[in-house]
Amino acid sequence: MIVLHLVANLLALFSVIMAVIFAKRHNLRRHHFFIFVTIVLMTFAVGFMLVLFRGLANVHCILGLAIYIYVSFTLLSGILFRRRKLSRNVHRIYGILAISLVAAQIFYGLLKSRFFN
Ligand code: HEM
Ligand code: HEM
Repeated sequence: MIVLHLVANLLALFSVIMAVIFAKRHNLRRHHFFIFVTIVLMTFAVGFMLVLFRGLANVHCILGLAIYIYVSFTLLSGILFRRRKLSRNVHRIYGILAISLVAAQIFYGLLKSRFFN
């Protein structure tokens, strides 16, 4: 079952990277599409684990939920940027930090479950 969590998170990382590539090409429709896919995949991956382990079972869970909430703030920053209430650079920094955090959490999850169990 944890493999499902791994696959959904890896796909989410791939999808958010695609979203940034399309943002760089100024293709907003695809930027939005891949962001949508990312959020759906992450909601599934995180929600599924929260149900399976009945809450925040360990440090990885707490960090994972915090990162999920942070990604939601990045989404909000994108909406604020569209409404011209936030600069492009701020949205970009939020986005790059979000990708880095998700990648780090995948690395941490793999390290924890594959090598230290
Ligand atoms: C998790 C959510 C999101 C992430 C990680 C993200 C990430 C990014 C990044 C990194 C860039 C800058 C690309 C570059 O370096 O040039 C960007 C650009 C942009 N984003 Fe987002 N974004 C997210 C959500 C959104 C949302 C929800 C909206 C709009 C409602 C949005 C609208 C835009 C726009 C308009 C641009 C500029 C594209 C252009 O230059 O034509 N983003 N995004
Ligand atoms: C950004 C969010 C998250 C990411 C990217 C992530 C990523 C990962 C990865 C890559 C693994 C290794 C899977 C494997 O080796 O097959 C893993 C394991 C695991 N994850 Fe997550 N995860 C996230 C959030 C969560 C949350 C919120 C929970 C708990 C509610 C959770 C619970 C677990 C558990 C129980 C394991 C098994 C390893 C262990 O901790 O003993 N994860 N995660």
